[in-house]
Amino acid sequence: MSLLEIKNLNCAYGNVQVLWDVSLSVEQAEIVALLGANGAGKTTLLNTITGFVRPMSGEICFMGERIDGRPTNAITEMGIAYLPEGGKLFPDMTIRENLEMGAYPKHIWKERKELIDMVFELFPRLNERQKQLARTLSGGEQQMLALGRGLMSRPKLFLIDELSYGLAPIIVSEVFRIVQTLRERGITILLVEQNVRQTLEIADRAYVLENGRMVLCDKCCNLLENEYVKKAYLGL
Ligand SMILES: Nc1ncnc2c1ncn2[C@@H]1O[C@H](COP(=O)(O)OP(=O)(O)O)[C@@H](O)[C@H]1O
Ligand SMILES: [Mg+2]
Repeated sequence: MSLLEIKNLNCAYGNVQVLWDVSLSVEQAEIVALLGANGAGKTTLLNTITGFVRPMSGEICFMGERIDGRPTNAITEMGIAYLPEGGKLFPDMTIRENLEMGAYPKHIWKERKELIDMVFELFPRLNERQKQLARTLSGGEQQMLALGRGLMSRPKLFLIDELSYGLAPIIVSEVFRIVQTLRERGITILLVEQNVRQTLEIADRAYVLENGRMVLCDKCCNLLENEYVKKAYLGL
């Protein structure tokens, strides 16, 4: 059984359809990348998994259970964390307060102190700045805080949208290394990215979405050699 299994998903905003017959699966302990140009429908797909957007048809199963149609908080409580595009931190709260906000599933709240320690161990830079307001952090630090906040719900699956967007190249490598560390700790990751080369280097498999349709899915080592991917996504 796959950890996440999406079958034949169709999705529209009003009467404009943006996802067409999309299928995707994520296995336990994989890093799976979802690639595609702006407007392809990547964020919409993540928003349907987390229950923010209702699909017109299709199925989404997590750990063998149908989750499409369930409310977002129920989906979070099952073990799916979401780092939305741009992080969406609480800018006027401190690092520690932002992390506490991530511990909202009821059964997690009492574990928040241990979870915060775990996040601070992963991100020593946040530890040093616990009382600093989120809006005063650098772009890379904000993304680390957003990752840390997601970890506070003790997820099995972490959905991450455009983690590297707007970050300096050296910070991009750092946040990608953290993603690998999360996987080593048993967290499965579905990563939406426009930074195709580095993503293909850290992920196991990738899907390519174009105009709302899945056009490719393969192991990353194969995609790095794929002539179409090289031309359309790697600029070679
Ligand atoms: N809330 C919305 N209302 C109407 N159309 C939307 C909305 N969000 C996204 N879209 C449209 O859906 C398509 C896919 O968008 P999106 O999922 O954000 O793509 P990506 O994340 O791949 O850039 C785009 O054409 C976009 O304009
Ligand atoms: Mg997007």
